[in-house]
Amino acid sequence: MIIVIGSNKGGVGKTTLATNLAVAFAIRMNKAVLVDADPQGSALYWGSVRQQKQHTPFVNVAQRRGNLVDALKVLSRQNQVVIVDVPGRNSPELISAMSVADIVISPHACSQLDLETLQELEDQVHALRPLNPKIRVLIYQSMGTTNPKIRQRERSDFCSYVSVFENLLLANSSGFQRLAYRECISEGIGVLESNNPLAADEIQQLLTELLNG
Ligand SMILES: Nc1ncnc2c1ncn2[C@@H]1O[C@H](COP(=O)(O)OP(=O)(O)O)[C@@H](O)[C@H]1O
Ligand SMILES: [Mg+2]
Repeated sequence: MIIVIGSNKGGVGKTTLATNLAVAFAIRMNKAVLVDADPQGSALYWGSVRQQKQHTPFVNVAQRRGNLVDALKVLSRQNQVVIVDVPGRNSPELISAMSVADIVISPHACSQLDLETLQELEDQVHALRPLNPKIRVLIYQSMGTTNPKIRQRERSDFCSYVSVFENLLLANSSGFQRLAYRECISEGIGVLESNNPLAADEIQQLLTELLNG
């Protein structure tokens, strides 16, 4: 299974989600690989910290650039799950990875600047669908507010924004702004391995949603 974490916007939590899902899948099934296709190399950095600190389970992080079609096909024959962290804005990595993906998870915060990029994603998926009819694109609300007074309204705004796009599905699970996510990146771990049960539960719920199709 090839899972691409992609969006046309930077800073929406792609790498954070990719590293956390890599840990979640590594705990559950040992044949998982995280592909860092972003020149920023943040996932590679996380992987090197994880290796230095000898955290288990081992998470294999591979670096790939440019057109990812052949590389992802090879990796998906060798691994049960391939998680791909791609750079944003119509990059060759985003488009080529989506052309062979089973699932695309696209994190977006509930902000006008993030949500305005959904139309571009809708157009990209529409263009790719003849090539990859099975593709499932889940829009994942990331960095939600934990303020109980506005949390519900933010979620319902997000849901109604996503609902107008024919090729984009709303993920039932969502993630909130939590310090734990930042701290885990610098520790080379995932929130499932942290002592923050709320963040861990968010990743567990996304994992369940992915596994149950
Ligand atoms: N759920 C979250 N809560 C708090 N901070 C987050 C969360 N997700 C990501 N961040 C922070 O937001 C910034 C951008 O996240 P990152 O995963 O690097 O995004 P992208 O890969 O899309 O550019 C980083 O500083 C990261 O630590
Ligand atoms: Mg990134």
